[in-house]
Amino acid sequence: MKKKNAKHSMKKLRKAIRKAQNAKRYEHTLGVEYTAAALAMRYGENMQDALLAGLLHDCAKCLPDEELLRICEKNNIPVTEEERSLPFILHGKVGGILARKKYGVENEDVLNAIYYHTMGREGMSLLEKIIFVADYIEPGRDKAPGLAELRTLAFQDLDKALVRILEATLQHVKESGCTVFSGTEQTLNYYKKQ
Ligand SMILES: [Fe+2]
Ligand SMILES: [Fe+2]
Repeated sequence: MKKKNAKHSMKKLRKAIRKAQNAKRYEHTLGVEYTAAALAMRYGENMQDALLAGLLHDCAKCLPDEELLRICEKNNIPVTEEERSLPFILHGKVGGILARKKYGVENEDVLNAIYYHTMGREGMSLLEKIIFVADYIEPGRDKAPGLAELRTLAFQDLDKALVRILEATLQHVKESGCTVFSGTEQTLNYYKKQ
């Protein structure tokens, strides 16, 4: 994205994302966008990058499963067995691809923050952590336990908040009898050791 047109582009991008999402998802998107900007202010990350990554993080969330798989195949993105059985996990990876190809993002850090936002990864950048945390604590979220405390923690110690979110996510999927995503477990093990 060309810097001088950043503001203008954000307006256009918001319109495009609004069209690509349902009302509830778009509301969540705006929540993540502004929460990411607030975290960027707190931790000294580039605010425009945080806004952009927040706006686009779920740009592939409303696509049907077949479309997610098709886009991966077309772009030579490796798809694991796990992802093939639950294609919605791919909306991060596909979001990263669409952000580059459809929405014109060139900043690799922004693209990675979108690409890895569902499960995180080892050695995440500050921006990647910000998007991951913002996705969980944005104001529209209300179901996860301990959210108020977690929101405070996110502005005190981003890494601790990251670990708490990974733990809570794993516990939630285990309790609900869903498949535990290997990526989430891997990220948690890595950050617990840090
Ligand atoms: Fe997502
Ligand atoms: Fe999200």
